[in-house]
Amino acid sequence: MEAREPSITKTFGILTAGGDCPGLNAAIRGVCRAAYDRYHMNILGITNGYRGLIDGDVRPLAPEDFSGILTRGGTILGTSREKPFKSSEIGEDKVRAIKENYNKHKLDCLVVLGGNGTNTTGYLLAQEGLNILGLPKTIDNDIEGTERSFGFHSAIAICTDAIDRLHSIAASHNRVMVIETMGHKAGWLALYAGIAGGGDVILIPEIPYDIKAIGRHLNSRAGEGKSFSIVVVAEGALSAEEAKMEKKDRKKYRMETGLPSIAYRVAREIEEETGMETRATVLGYVQRGGIPSASDRVLATRLGTAAADLLARGEYGKMVAQLGSGIAPVDLSVPAGKIKKVPRDDPLLDTAIAVGTCLGV
Ligand code: F6P
Repeated sequence: MEAREPSITKTFGILTAGGDCPGLNAAIRGVCRAAYDRYHMNILGITNGYRGLIDGDVRPLAPEDFSGILTRGGTILGTSREKPFKSSEIGEDKVRAIKENYNKHKLDCLVVLGGNGTNTTGYLLAQEGLNILGLPKTIDNDIEGTERSFGFHSAIAICTDAIDRLHSIAASHNRVMVIETMGHKAGWLALYAGIAGGGDVILIPEIPYDIKAIGRHLNSRAGEGKSFSIVVVAEGALSAEEAKMEKKDRKKYRMETGLPSIAYRVAREIEEETGMETRATVLGYVQRGGIPSASDRVLATRLGTAAADLLARGEYGKMVAQLGSGIAPVDLSVPAGKIKKVPRDDPLLDTAIAVGTCLGV
């Protein structure tokens, strides 16, 4: 296909960093196909996130590399949690190496696909004079500046399916089932999946819970003849008591419980509070695996192709975001160093309450 217009970007590098998620390959395909077919750009794939750019692990990508990957989980480029700016002296060496490799490969821009950390690093590299474009991915949906990140919708579907399955076990055994989703700092995934799965209690990091309130809710359900309950909890949820503790005291307290995660602590607290038989399930990495949902494929493709248009126009220093029903660039300073949490006045919290869900308070 002929190029639409002469492209300002001739050569760009692309990497995926941070935790993987469904939709990364769809986004890689979106960027690369549009950049190659419409604008004839040269594309260099960087292995394992920023680590690959530090080590110079870079290879040209040809159309066959980004063909047939739309539906594949994971990332064909590999990923790592390398944060080059993290520690001072070694950090300086790493940033120097990144700049050297960027110049050595004559990149006009580096496209980074990732979450808060990845886009923050992108912003810092832009401050160092590199041309950067970011794309938002994470199952946590906690990137400031975009309404959605790809990966989120797929993870909601996985979590909802798991909750549905655990629902029937809860009902058969007259138990309380506590289901832990990912989400350290933000409770979007637990909230969405909790509502989709009909959670009777949803606990998120933004609302420290009171076990007494949970106990009252479960007892009142039992009083209505409901012999089981579903509790959805984000991995970063915490009790009101824990919220008051210093970080190190909280860590010590959790170690002393001898329990591996919040789902187990909440399950034990529920048993102590209500006497109800309670089980914990941690969904773990299953939430980040496998094929992307149709919605994530579309979002990743829209974000990817929009990134190619920005590359062609030479509009750098941006993260491509979903704003309302459209796709638009926001300055990389918007997501940098931030976490998009569930605001206390988010309408979805009221939606949950309106259908009788207890939010732990
Ligand atoms: O990508 C974000 C996330 O899904 C968090 O919710 C979770 O805490 C984290 O990844 C765990 O990832 P890893 O163990 O791969 O670093």
